[in-house]
Amino acid sequence: MKHLLSIESMTPAQIHEVLDLAVEMKANRGRHAEHPLRHQCWGLIFSKSSTRTRVSFEVGIRELGGDVMFLSSNDIQLGRGEPIADTARVMGRMLHGAVIRTFAQKDVEDFARLSGIPTINALTDAEHPCQILADLQTIREALGSVEGKIVTFVGDGACNVPCSWIWAAAKLGFELRIAAPKKFQPPRELLERLNARNIFVTDDLDHAAEGADVLYTDVWVSMGKEEEAAFRLAQMGHYQISSGLVAKAKPGALVMHCLPAYRGKEITAEVFEQHAATIFNQAENRLHAQKAVLSLLTRG
Ligand code: CP
Ligand code: NVA
Repeated sequence: MKHLLSIESMTPAQIHEVLDLAVEMKANRGRHAEHPLRHQCWGLIFSKSSTRTRVSFEVGIRELGGDVMFLSSNDIQLGRGEPIADTARVMGRMLHGAVIRTFAQKDVEDFARLSGIPTINALTDAEHPCQILADLQTIREALGSVEGKIVTFVGDGACNVPCSWIWAAAKLGFELRIAAPKKFQPPRELLERLNARNIFVTDDLDHAAEGADVLYTDVWVSMGKEEEAAFRLAQMGHYQISSGLVAKAKPGALVMHCLPAYRGKEITAEVFEQHAATIFNQAENRLHAQKAVLSLLTRG
């Protein structure tokens, strides 16, 4: 694996390779025999806010022996209009790898191509691959495997997290149901292109939750969509994980959230606290899954 640009660009074998190594990373934290990022300096180039992604990459790179530099787009010339193509060609001559959080997927892909250094997508408007890898690790730990399970995503079905879930389902074959209002369903072209029998999109929330092994949600207003907040809240008001919805899922179903969470919006405070162990395990697994990715990228 040279880059991690999307779940779309991963093979099922690569996904399994990351998940297998993530288990090892978690078990051996603090006792790693190898430090594959030794003598390397990685850059985190972020155009959007972050808590989990930033901290997990900064800690993870250091734990693998590397050095790391956080570069907010506001502090570098990128934020003043310097093209990504020029930024990439400069960074590629100095850094050993880059982790990028931005808007356009094309920017991450252009950066990877033009910089020539290993590049990781730390969230774009199209995908959030690192999140889904950590989530798959969390599901493996709790349920053994995602294969044969039903994952129901509730809320904004058109944003990065559900789009990465769609690609994960397309690659791994588990049943994915997306319950979202009509205006916030995944891009039709994507669904038509995949024509997958294991991926269902509906506005019938209760039906989508029936018998699910996992109920998953994300914010109703993604970063960059703040101007649409009032409209989104009005549209999405009913697409919430509540105790009533949990009762429709399989007994013992996991409730997952990529965080940050807005209680009373996409999830009730009560359900969030009841399932906090799973949700914060997801957050912790960002560290382990990303260390697995970093390590695999150094192997080429
Ligand atoms: N889930 C996630 O990516 O969180 P941050 O935006 O805090 O990085
Ligand atoms: N869909 C959310 C994910 C946050 C981690 C966003 O893009 O803001």
